[in-house]
Amino acid sequence: MAGISKLEKNGTYLKVIWDDGEESKFNYMWLRDNCPTAHDKDSRHRMFDILKVSKDINPKKYTINTNGKLEIEWSEGEHTSHYDINWLRENCYTIKNKQKYISPYKLWDNSLQNDIKSISIDCDEIMSSNEGLVKWLKLLHFKGIAIVNNAPTKEKSAFEVLNRISHTRETFFKTPFEVINVPKPNNSAYTAHALKNHMDLPWFENPPGYQFLHCLINSANGGDSSAVDGFAVAEYLRKSEKDIFETLVSVPLKFRDKDYTQQSHRSFYAPAVSLTKDGDFNDIRFSVATMDALDCHPDVMDKVYSAHHRFGNLLHDDKFVIRFRLNPGDIYSFNNRRVLHGRTAFDPNSGHRHLQGYYIDRDEIIGRLSYLIK
Ligand code: OGA
Ligand code: ZN
Repeated sequence: MAGISKLEKNGTYLKVIWDDGEESKFNYMWLRDNCPTAHDKDSRHRMFDILKVSKDINPKKYTINTNGKLEIEWSEGEHTSHYDINWLRENCYTIKNKQKYISPYKLWDNSLQNDIKSISIDCDEIMSSNEGLVKWLKLLHFKGIAIVNNAPTKEKSAFEVLNRISHTRETFFKTPFEVINVPKPNNSAYTAHALKNHMDLPWFENPPGYQFLHCLINSANGGDSSAVDGFAVAEYLRKSEKDIFETLVSVPLKFRDKDYTQQSHRSFYAPAVSLTKDGDFNDIRFSVATMDALDCHPDVMDKVYSAHHRFGNLLHDDKFVIRFRLNPGDIYSFNNRRVLHGRTAFDPNSGHRHLQGYYIDRDEIIGRLSYLIK
């Protein structure tokens, strides 16, 4: 770790010159707000209230003390702060903002078809070791897809596997939801029809982050699974068809659910592709089945439908789609707001097919992974 070679007081910030030549600007209010004594040791919540000092707070004295800490005696509040140098360097927002953002996502296309093994993991590995759990979480976070093999096939037995990550996300479809062919279904998944690649529940403000389809029985003809990396398709459009991409990120689409069993009509507007503060992909909203009658401005309806049509076609293009068949004991796990999933039709008279579905919020996947690899 670098040491500090020089400190310089300026109008609103302390300039730190590091002995490796880097320079940092630390705003005075930022420094005061991040005094190591500001936080409670257990809750780790900030107890110090920046509103109690004026905007003019500044260092009356500042030095690197004999313990090697940056010591600042403040102009008000009769307080002295001691900062760990390594902490300052790690949290330096001058340096952070110069660094190029690197996406955690490993985008994939149809070539993954020849390497399904690379996204497969044995259930025992997850249950018996944190290394196994981390491997699963990394696949989920980086690739957005994993297939757990050899899980038990007893009903509801996936709870135990998923609880290695965290609690599940409840919805009115119940947990688990039963993906089985039923009369008068309230969702097209509960039929024997084919399902085009889609995400689940795009009409929620916050659709489930991850989905887990646990295969219990799959002996009917048909019912093969598909997956497509929506981020990879969006990236292709960003590079090659800029106008389409621009429409996908800028115009909110409308989604809705008003199935006959519900006492609520849920709907939400969101663009097909949304981005993070770094311009990386945040989520995809795509579901032919639950997109509502759009009501965007007449001047943009043509381009919105053209973009939706192009995006939808690519999400079903052989260049991007992988296909596989679930076996009993498989848990098909994926980022519901990135990887769109589908299935072919099946013949309910030829055998039986039963999946149980679960959701987990994205915060739980990312939070658990960051805890385990900290
Ligand atoms: C679902 C779904 C796929 C399948 O239940 O949301 O898309 O293979 N199911 O039945
Ligand atoms: Zn689905």
